[in-house]
Amino acid sequence: MNSDITMTLDVGALHHNLLTVRRIAPQSRIMAVVKADAYGHGLIYLWPYLARDVDGMAVARVSEAIELRQFGYQGTLLVLGGFDDGEDLRAIDEYQLQTVVHAPHQVALLTKARLQHPLTVWLKIETGMHRLGLEETELGDAYQRLKAMPTVAHLILMTHFASSEYREGDVTLKQIQIFEQRIAGYAEPRSLSNSGGILAWPNAHQQWVRPGLMMYGGSPFSPAENSPLLRPVMRLTAPVKAIHVLRKGDAVGYNGIFVAPKNMTIAVVGGGYGDGYPRALPNGTPVWLNGKTATTVGRVSMDSVMIDISNHDRVSLGDRAVLWGPELAVETVAEYAKTDPRELLCRMGMHRVQRKIIGDNNGTDN
Ligand SMILES: Cc1ncc(COP(=O)(O)O)c(C=O)c1O
Repeated sequence: MNSDITMTLDVGALHHNLLTVRRIAPQSRIMAVVKADAYGHGLIYLWPYLARDVDGMAVARVSEAIELRQFGYQGTLLVLGGFDDGEDLRAIDEYQLQTVVHAPHQVALLTKARLQHPLTVWLKIETGMHRLGLEETELGDAYQRLKAMPTVAHLILMTHFASSEYREGDVTLKQIQIFEQRIAGYAEPRSLSNSGGILAWPNAHQQWVRPGLMMYGGSPFSPAENSPLLRPVMRLTAPVKAIHVLRKGDAVGYNGIFVAPKNMTIAVVGGGYGDGYPRALPNGTPVWLNGKTATTVGRVSMDSVMIDISNHDRVSLGDRAVLWGPELAVETVAEYAKTDPRELLCRMGMHRVQRKIIGDNNGTDN
């Protein structure tokens, strides 16, 4: 019996989701966002499959980009957080990375740098998120100085959406308008859209799209929509380790946060917060077992979680419960954890969980 919690990575689903991106944004190139260990899926496993389907990959930090180069990826590789000092810039040059420039101090650093290779800069413009991005007053000067630098071979103009997962309201529309105003007269390629932008804001597709969550099969919409266009790449399963019959009044797990209201049967499933399954999940969180939903009872422990199987006909030791995956959307579990599905996925970027690849049909599977 496979006695460990296991993450199955369906690279056929990954390919399918990227075909969806291509279908929805046919004029755009795809910059796959693979920061935080490919949203916890394990970049070392996914990058060879991604490399077949995308035009580039983006990470947050220089250290992540170096790691991806060391895995063997030689294609277009963008550092979304850009550089903070000369050392970062030397690495960007050595590993032939593309970089975001989001602040004037980075323009100043670039002016002083001696680079061996022509550089592509993604100039990030503030349009309403107030995180990373050049303010209106800084943009003109940064743009002119970058254009004049012999080492800067290409410029791409970008911004990032704060709320593209809300179809209602005008926050994203306003960001698109502000972006257009700020770059009026600039002829360089543009990039605005994350998953929400790709799915809901077609006039923001432009030359480059930057899918993250949707590429892994998650829905960006709030509340989550089960989109038939997307298939989850990650399936997280853990085995049933023990089965107990409880009597009315028995308490379950640490601090007894669940007390059996009647006689019932529970199973102990071998995955817990030490594997990335959140401790914050309340009683009643769904888990999929043998073709139907069971619900958690008691506090999630480090290595295990208990589920109510009173309504299941047959459960045997070693049966595998799905904590999330195609049968149970990670978005649903995220709602129980009061968080975003990206956070649940990213938490899995740790080494305790075994990985298994399925769906590799030479990239033809969809
Ligand atoms: C600059 C940038 N672009 C794109 C993405 C991908 O976002 P999503 O997961 O919503 O597709 C991210 C993720 O945080 C990002 O920071």
